[in-house]
Amino acid sequence: MRLLILGGTQFLGRAIASHACAMGHDVTCAARGVAGTVPDGVRFIRVDRDEPDGLAPLVGEEFDAVVDVSRHPGQVRRAVAALKPRVGHWTFVSTVSVYADNRTPGQRADAAPLLAPTALEVEQSTAETYGAAKVACEQAIGENAFICRAGLIVGPEDPTGRFTYWPARFHRGGEVLVPGTPDEAVQLIDVRDLAWWIVHAVQTRLSGCFDGIGPSCTRGQFLAECAEALGSSCTFTWVDRAFLESQDIRRWSGPRSLPLWLPLPEYAGFATRDTSPARDCGLTVRTLSQTARDTLAWALAAGGSVIGLTADEESAALAAWHADRP
Ligand SMILES: NC(=O)c1ccc[n+]([C@@H]2O[C@H](COP(=O)([O-])OP(=O)(O)OC[C@H]3O[C@@H](n4cnc5c(N)ncnc54)[C@H](OP(=O)(O)O)[C@@H]3O)[C@@H](O)[C@H]2O)c1
Repeated sequence: MRLLILGGTQFLGRAIASHACAMGHDVTCAARGVAGTVPDGVRFIRVDRDEPDGLAPLVGEEFDAVVDVSRHPGQVRRAVAALKPRVGHWTFVSTVSVYADNRTPGQRADAAPLLAPTALEVEQSTAETYGAAKVACEQAIGENAFICRAGLIVGPEDPTGRFTYWPARFHRGGEVLVPGTPDEAVQLIDVRDLAWWIVHAVQTRLSGCFDGIGPSCTRGQFLAECAEALGSSCTFTWVDRAFLESQDIRRWSGPRSLPLWLPLPEYAGFATRDTSPARDCGLTVRTLSQTARDTLAWALAAGGSVIGLTADEESAALAAWHADRP
């Protein structure tokens, strides 16, 4: 199969390129080459999708399938117009951030309400319009496509450093500040499993909207399994939302966050998506233990991103927690 990946120079796109190449497909990645490089064995074509004629270097090329990871409606509109009519299968990597309701647990891709899309003529998304812009991208693609709404993607080469925070933190050992309560939900997918499933979906000509994410587990299970997989002798100190907010410890990801924490009840449904439709169409996932070990090995060997609380910030927060509870 001649597969074009619009992207492919980092994380998920790169993992898809790598896996498709290993499966024997003829893989081309089109990007600027700013985020990184493509895997060995993959052809690279330099394009700038923000330019009106940015896909001109692809004129005359023939592809059986396209995978697009863009988050910008302008880029998606231009790619669909230039390529979709002459390509057999189209995959768009979307996100679970398209959903309007993060409170209700157990929702499915085929029935969950979506955010209102950004206006059709919007070119670029921002952090604030990310989910609404992805809805606009999905709508620009039209029928006969595989829309893969990815959940939290983790594993080796993750540039966000958020999941990686936890294996790296357990590796350090000692008393670990952990957010919320043990029964809160966590849900994620290893980038290699998602890449495998997307290539499988292309090969089987899957179409329709699916959530691309692994099974939901509790935060207690998540932390215990990661710590055990890494042989860590740490202890957990659970702190509540009021304390986290009083210390200006942030949600979900980024500097000064406790990664993967989201406040309840606003996000009570976020990490509980029903993934049985994806499983029925071939999605399988490796164990969390394996993901945790491989991610730590990559972070240590390659100096991969680890983003969340610094050691000093965590120590200060633990001291404040214990000072209030002698
Ligand atoms: N990470 C998560 O947890 C998560 C969760 C849910 C959904 N998702 C979705 O999963 C996908 C992740 O994709 P990804 O990991 O491959 O990374 P990404 O950060 O979305 O990568 C964007 C790709 O597009 C290319 N690109 C950006 N601007 C470009 C331009 N003007 N012209 C041409 N190419 C351009 C980049 O390469 P160059 O910079 O080299 O041009 C890069 O290869 C995204 O769709 C994201 O919305 C991610």
